[in-house]
Amino acid sequence: MSQLDTQQALLAQLSAWQLQIQACQALTDLEQLRVDCLGKKGLLTEQLKQLGQLPVELRPAHGALINQVKQQLQDDLLLRKRQLEQFELQQQLAAESIDVSLPGRLGFVGHAHPIRQTLERIQQFFLQAGFALRTGPEIEDSFHNFSALNIPEHHPARAMHDTFYVDSDRGAYPNAKIDHLLRTHTSPVQIRTLLTEEPPLRCICPGRVYRCDSDLTHTPMFHQVEGLWVDRQVSFADLKGLLTEFLRWFFEVDLPVRLRPSYFPFTEPSAEVDLQCVHCRGKGCRVCGQTGWLEVLGCGMVHPNVLTACNLDPQQWSGLAFGLGVERFAMLYYGVTDLRHFFNNEMPFLAQF
Ligand code: PHE
Repeated sequence: MSQLDTQQALLAQLSAWQLQIQACQALTDLEQLRVDCLGKKGLLTEQLKQLGQLPVELRPAHGALINQVKQQLQDDLLLRKRQLEQFELQQQLAAESIDVSLPGRLGFVGHAHPIRQTLERIQQFFLQAGFALRTGPEIEDSFHNFSALNIPEHHPARAMHDTFYVDSDRGAYPNAKIDHLLRTHTSPVQIRTLLTEEPPLRCICPGRVYRCDSDLTHTPMFHQVEGLWVDRQVSFADLKGLLTEFLRWFFEVDLPVRLRPSYFPFTEPSAEVDLQCVHCRGKGCRVCGQTGWLEVLGCGMVHPNVLTACNLDPQQWSGLAFGLGVERFAMLYYGVTDLRHFFNNEMPFLAQF
């Protein structure tokens, strides 16, 4: 082969490779092509190796041509590589594109349980009326839960309370039998407050209470808010005014309120507060048992024996007290007719609040 033929063959080979490079559609194919041409055993490398077999005078020119071809190939390969990379990136971006205009996936947002919401609504009124929040232990002793509240041992009122007893301890209190129990009301918190704080004072005592009782309208655990106001001249008129105002505020209706004489060992006189039925407005319905009235609160003037048990002189101090069941208020407020809904914790029910 003449030198001219050799050079033309090399240039023809270059054109063929350039076409192949242009036709390449994948980076892996392009890399294979590079290895075939320029790799250690590549065709062009072979040609360089065979340079020594050419006559000496032809070597420089042919060598220079091979290097030119090599340079051209490298440039073309690099250019195509950049093109393919760009192309693959475009494809990837199109495939993985994020539509930022799609609506977001909302996480589940929880909220307070309806009993807690009711409790907080009750608290809101009394906190605004100047009452302070006081809490106490759920495992109480019989002194705070009963004796100090004018319910001595063997008093029939103890039996009224369906108490869960925890244990008995005579050793620590030689003169009196002390039982530990789950508190049956939050009145013991009022005793604890009177024993540690100086009147005049106003407090509400919210919390869980326990009674061994379970049927359609009773659960062994429920919530109470009790209130206490001790000052030098607290009167029954204050009691009636406060509770009437509270009921009208809570139920957002201007319904008649009546006080019925009742009995609690720790108050004298005692009363039960009735609100005209919020559902039938006094006509009589299932909610009020056809009476037209709803029993919503127990209340009274603090019994002198209770003040004395808390080291206060009943001649100087008087007090009013009241207690209510939070579940009952929640049922009336939300129109829920089955108490058990509040304890089953089923999402379809709870999500409505
Ligand atoms: N402690 C009473 C109860 O649990 C409620 C109450 C409190 C009644 C204060 C009158 C005065 O039943």
